[in-house]
Amino acid sequence: MNKYLKITLYIFGILLVMQFITIDKTVPQLEGRLDFMEIENPPKEIALLIKNACYDCHSYETQYPSYSNYAPISWIIGNDIQEGREHLNFSTWGEYQKEVKKDLLFNSYKQIGARQMPMYSYVMQHKEAKIQNAELKKFYTWFKQQSNKYQ
Ligand code: HEC
Repeated sequence: MNKYLKITLYIFGILLVMQFITIDKTVPQLEGRLDFMEIENPPKEIALLIKNACYDCHSYETQYPSYSNYAPISWIIGNDIQEGREHLNFSTWGEYQKEVKKDLLFNSYKQIGARQMPMYSYVMQHKEAKIQNAELKKFYTWFKQQSNKYQ
């Protein structure tokens, strides 16, 4: 067999086998009253920004894009989501101690202000998650004010 054909088949075979290792998209049964929106009650436009820019990685309400079904992209996405939820999960907000809530709100203020969050790789694929300059300050200031409410 031609050497290049062999290599191509080999790569194809590996890719095919990789598809069997899927990511876990199951979520636990949610209690609505633990959700960030219920507890912090942000103004409508802020709530929308948070839902659009953060909830895919930092909550159990992840909306998976179709390309998340294909390895190895699925593994990268799955990893971001798992790590994102470990650091901050808006769906289980009510379970955090108030000191933790204060810190997470303040860290969100810093992350958004420095344009570290939402992650660049995510914004490239999700235009609705891009925070426009005009709304950026209002958005991160809200997190800071909210953080200050926790003593
Ligand atoms: C594509 C997935 C993704 C999106 C979208 C995303 N994050 Fe993150 N976030 C992560 C990951 C992964 C980490 C942990 C690793 C790191 O810090 O880079 C993280 C870490 C954080 C942290 C640090 C948590 C700590 O321990 O203090 C904060 C705060 C945060 N994100 C806030 C946000 C906010 C607010 C948004 C929306 C404006 C957002 N993130 C959008 C994936 C994401």
